[in-house]
Amino acid sequence: MATLHQHDVLVIGTGAAGLSLALHLPPHLRVALICKSQLNEGSTYWAQGGMAAVLHTRDTVNSHVEDTLAAGGGLCRREAVEFTVNNSRRCVEWLVAQGVDFDLREDQASIDQREFHLAMEGGHSHRRIIHAADRTGRAISEVLTEKAQQAPNIELFTQRVAVDLVVEDGRCQGAYILDRENDRVELFQARAVVLATGGASKVYLYTSNPDGATGDGIAMAWRAGCRVANLEFNQFHPTCLYHPRAKSFLITEAIRGEGGKLLLADGTRFMDSFDPRGELAPRDVVARAIDHEMKRLGADCVFLDISHKPREFLQSHFPTILARCAEFGIDICREPIPVVPAAHYTCGGVVVDTRGRTDRAGLYAIGETSCTGLHGANRMASNSLLECIVYAESAAKDIAATLAGIPAPAPAVPWDESQVTDSDEDVVISHNWDELRRFMWDYVGIVRTNKRLQRALHRVQLLQAEIAEYYGNYKVGNDLLELRNLAMVAELMIRCAISRKESRGLHYTLDYPELLPEAVDTVLTPVNSPLQGQANAQAT
Ligand code: FUM
Repeated sequence: MATLHQHDVLVIGTGAAGLSLALHLPPHLRVALICKSQLNEGSTYWAQGGMAAVLHTRDTVNSHVEDTLAAGGGLCRREAVEFTVNNSRRCVEWLVAQGVDFDLREDQASIDQREFHLAMEGGHSHRRIIHAADRTGRAISEVLTEKAQQAPNIELFTQRVAVDLVVEDGRCQGAYILDRENDRVELFQARAVVLATGGASKVYLYTSNPDGATGDGIAMAWRAGCRVANLEFNQFHPTCLYHPRAKSFLITEAIRGEGGKLLLADGTRFMDSFDPRGELAPRDVVARAIDHEMKRLGADCVFLDISHKPREFLQSHFPTILARCAEFGIDICREPIPVVPAAHYTCGGVVVDTRGRTDRAGLYAIGETSCTGLHGANRMASNSLLECIVYAESAAKDIAATLAGIPAPAPAVPWDESQVTDSDEDVVISHNWDELRRFMWDYVGIVRTNKRLQRALHRVQLLQAEIAEYYGNYKVGNDLLELRNLAMVAELMIRCAISRKESRGLHYTLDYPELLPEAVDTVLTPVNSPLQGQANAQAT
């Protein structure tokens, strides 16, 4: 008999978004919290920089809103931006109340009036990044994880990877979830399901993201009939450590906020010739400038120099970067750091409203999985942790307010493995995985063309046919599930990119280098959308 788990709310993902949502739910609701691998391993844990919030006496909500709109290249939804920024101070207070220890100003007058140290990052016109040295995500993740572990109403399941959502009578009523340790798929039923699985930057060969960033939530929501939007806007972080043994290690933008300079190998500064804001131009501008210089010179990397700052300063503000670079023989107090751009953040995602509701009744998406309209065509640095916490709270409130009126899930079909066998050729998975990430990097990267996108579309469709065949014949495992999701999201990214006939924000194409006068979202609607047939559905 297959195992059946029943809860009030099923939350898939244990980063800042999933954990906060679970903690915001009222204690009488029974919550299942699903973690793909171990706790404290996802993108939140590795976030260095921090969380943007209006905290400085000279800063204003309006200024944060305007900076976000400007960075977003005309595509942000003002309602979402104002909603997020208006809630920023309260979300910081909530995190502090949970026990997150953000850095305080060294020169503050009194411990009673706690003044946080605020860092500066690209696109912000004020210092507004609250942080815990250069390991902010870790500070948030550890505190919220511990709180969730202590909460009597929250049951944590680790080493579980979601296969697909269960949709019955038009509502999402749970998910099939693979228990990786026991190698079996179980049914989790709930009256509300929340996707908080992060982004899909693992679709690229080079990424700052940890291994689990495989677009699982986006792919599952699409298969369950939800619209996705703006997936052509994948943010490339300009500065990841360039070293053969340094996998996915980010060099936070806060280094540039403290005066770090980008240099070519001969020591020449180059950012000023691309943008008057120099190193603090928004990320799309900086990443493109680096890409341009690397291609022009045939260089493997550029360099980021912060060596003008005293060792004590670097030790207290950037201890993780100092230590990690030292492991590779780089003393950041004396020499520049070799850096390259890498895929960092999925700005588009599952279309949601300010309550985190998707198109499918009973299904919510929050954090990087979602497209709230906050980021538009380019996310402003450090707005994403904020979005996670703000939308976690609003979705939790909506669930708490509506759940009583929702009937218990109908009996669902258990997972059926009677027609499949154990795989005899796992090389298909590893080969397709490598091929996908390589052509996405080469053809759907920082600079695109029509030809490159068409080539990528052709290849991803071939891969998907192979993956579907494999999925239909063999037992599922984590690698196959991730590959299936990544290929799905890659196709959606390419289709979004092909349909944008301009260059805007993070989407830059040599075939349409100009900006069109009107900013329009790219929205893809699946054939099984509950909106199909409604007047406002935008067919693709
Ligand atoms: O550069 C950074 O620390 C990254 C921040 C972010 O992605 O928001």
